[in-house]
Amino acid sequence: MDKLIIEGGHPLRGEVNISGAKNSAVAILPAALLAGAPCTIKNLPDIKDVANIIDILKQLGAEVNKESHDKVIINSNTINTYKVDFELSKKLRASYYFIGALLGRFKKAEVPFPGGCDIGVRPIDQHIKGFEALGAKVIIEHGIIRAEADELVGAPIFLDVVSVGATINIMLAACMAKGTTIIENAAKEPYIVDTANFLNALGANIKGAGTDEIKIKGVDTLGGCEHTIIPDQMEAGTYMIAAAASKGDIIVKNIIPTHLDSISAKMREMGVNIIENGDSLRVIANTRPKAVNIKTLPYPGFPTDLQQPMSVLLSISDGTAIINESIYDGRFKHVDELKKMGAKISVEGRIAIVEGVPKLLGAPVCATDLRAGAAMVVAGLSAEGETVISNITHIERGYENFENKLIKLGAKVKRINEED
Ligand code: EPU
Repeated sequence: MDKLIIEGGHPLRGEVNISGAKNSAVAILPAALLAGAPCTIKNLPDIKDVANIIDILKQLGAEVNKESHDKVIINSNTINTYKVDFELSKKLRASYYFIGALLGRFKKAEVPFPGGCDIGVRPIDQHIKGFEALGAKVIIEHGIIRAEADELVGAPIFLDVVSVGATINIMLAACMAKGTTIIENAAKEPYIVDTANFLNALGANIKGAGTDEIKIKGVDTLGGCEHTIIPDQMEAGTYMIAAAASKGDIIVKNIIPTHLDSISAKMREMGVNIIENGDSLRVIANTRPKAVNIKTLPYPGFPTDLQQPMSVLLSISDGTAIINESIYDGRFKHVDELKKMGAKISVEGRIAIVEGVPKLLGAPVCATDLRAGAAMVVAGLSAEGETVISNITHIERGYENFENKLIKLGAKVKRINEED
């Protein structure tokens, strides 16, 4: 396994292009299973999670042609099984979307429990409640979720928790159900709108995506389409935070700035200058940021996926900040690593109290999960001296070409083999 070595203290400067959104891509690729004709999907991020989803599509028998690093054509008329392989499924969280997609198309799905980052309890009871409401029988046996229905019939479904995964999975299963499904208390993340737009382009009838009530009128068949994945707001937010932590001045390009409103607002509160300009924004940070409190919430609130990188910026801010992680009960695993770099953070359950220090000092640290890894990179960029980050395979799951994009921004980053 490789390691990243970062020599800190070089402000990021220049422009960075943001890739397609991971969490859209990992939903839209399984959604292509529902299509009756080939689909062309563009602006796909070149990351491990996408490669893993494509491996599952191929294992099911779909034809996947990679036209370029960010474009694939999928023909799912060649699918020959409704059973997802155990080893492939546990490589990532989003393998759960194959339950909704296979159920929606073949009325039958067998998907082993998904993997993904260890950030706390991650049940899928709301997905199952949705499938059952549509008439599926769902049983869990030997770590495999088996769902089956004679026919799927639209139904009202009120989600007990706002869940990105359950909202999308129910949309997938309901597209070709008989009658109308209404998802209430639906998640509103941009990935949900992106997936609904893709399904509608195939011929589905989904209204209200992006609000908390989504109405899906079942249609008999779906065709093919060409779709471009939206930009990744978490990748963009990570670069914005990295720019501020390194006291840099960068332009983040190819984004939808409204998707970043909660992040821009917080960073402005901290004294960082953010200037929006069409599909890009400039981040200028030349002074020490002020401490602010954050509470993670479903979209449009502050995203849990940027809590870990943001905690690095808070750890070098002026003052004391309180972080309330309301989505996951185990998303502070990076704190012990940050403490090795001199951060002063105490964690009590879902609350972290961050006492800002003037600077972090480089140290050997570990990427304990995807966003924790991004946080360690941000910490390394801001720190005095050298930071060595191990276990970077987590980072590769979600960030396209991270070190090269950073090097282009002037960072001193190098990848070495663990054995070196
Ligand atoms: N929840 C339940 N029951 C369910 C589903 C969720 O109790 O059936 C709870 C979860 O335990 C959590 C909350 O509801 O407390 C929200 O979970 P959600 O279902 O929204 O999360 P997810 O679909 O598993 C996606 C992203 C995550 C992101 C969350 C929240 C994908 C593949 N993953 O996960 O992304 O943190 O939404 O926005 O879309 C990441 O990119 O680093 C990442 C972890």
